Amino acid sequence: MQNIKTYQESFLKYLEDFTEEKEPKSLYEPINYILKLGGKRLRPVLTLMTADIFGSKAKDAINAALSVEVFHNFSLIHDDIMDDAPLRRGRETVHEKWDLNTGILSGDAMLILAYQLFENYEPDTFQALAKLFSKTALEVCEGQQYDIDFETRTDVTIPDYLKMIEYKTAVLVGAAMKMGAIVANASLEDQNAIYDFGRYLGIAFQLQDDYLDAFGNPETFGKQVGGDILENKKTYLYLKTLALGSKAEKNELIALMASNTIENDAKVESVKALFKNSGAAEATQNAVKDYTQKAFAVLEKLNISENKKQMLRLFGEQLMNRRV
Ligand code: IPE
Ligand code: IPE
Ligand code: MG
Ligand code: MG
Ligand code: MG
Repeated sequence: MQNIKTYQESFLKYLEDFTEEKEPKSLYEPINYILKLGGKRLRPVLTLMTADIFGSKAKDAINAALSVEVFHNFSLIHDDIMDDAPLRRGRETVHEKWDLNTGILSGDAMLILAYQLFENYEPDTFQALAKLFSKTALEVCEGQQYDIDFETRTDVTIPDYLKMIEYKTAVLVGAAMKMGAIVANASLEDQNAIYDFGRYLGIAFQLQDDYLDAFGNPETFGKQVGGDILENKKTYLYLKTLALGSKAEKNELIALMASNTIENDAKVESVKALFKNSGAAEATQNAVKDYTQKAFAVLEKLNISENKKQMLRLFGEQLMNRRV
């Protein structure tokens, strides 16, 4: 087994060769820009680590790991268009730096590149990876569509929200791990268990993302703080404020979100105060812990050493406490 930093380093080395200059520049520059913008590299690290855990060499999973990261970055370009986001990893988003059409087409090309990377595998592995990828990518689209639909809906429930984040975010984390297990020829039972581990971790991850979108430090978070509030996102913070807040707090939240006369910063600050005072901020942190615990419970089912389980727990704990 290697440590997280080593997986990250071997991934970044491989990415360096992948991001070469190509024509037309206006198609490939934005692709290389987003891919080299930084980011936590969480998903590819999970793919490499999982392959290693199930007895393969991590480098055998490098193309699957790259595929997952290319797909993730594609989804970020299009997500930033859909969310009207100005900042990504502390820099301009692709559609701001270039324009909308560039963001659309570079994103499309990345989706194809992600798929193409599976060609590096033998037919049986290729098929298993491609099948999982297609299912996952379609679910991500479904999750993203729910996310957008929810902006203009007033009847979104917590279960609706949980399904939405499972699709837009968690299934890719699960798939990233399952791909490592596929490359390593793990049993189907282990493949499914590690998928569930990743899926629960992914739900916890998105809950924390929602929390940080409001309460992250603008200096280090890398995205526009309060972006979800300004876009009317039905986040856990929002839905829990409606569930836990007093009648006055609920009414204030609804009025604030509906208003387009209040200045952005004032709106974000007032909504954040409601998130805190209603107990929704704390409830969100508790939900992050609960879903991380659900992930840890799945580890019991896995046929791997205690050492390896410990490494997965460490990863989960670091994610739970992340600030970026
Ligand atoms: C951002 O993912 C999109 C979400 C699913 C919340 P990450 O927080 O993993 O983004 P990077 O790749 O580290 O920038
Ligand atoms: C993004 O969710 C999920 C995908 C990109 C598929 P968010 O919209 O919350 O992600 P951020 O906050 O922009 O990174
Ligand atoms: Mg977004
Ligand atoms: Mg979004
Ligand atoms: Mg977010």
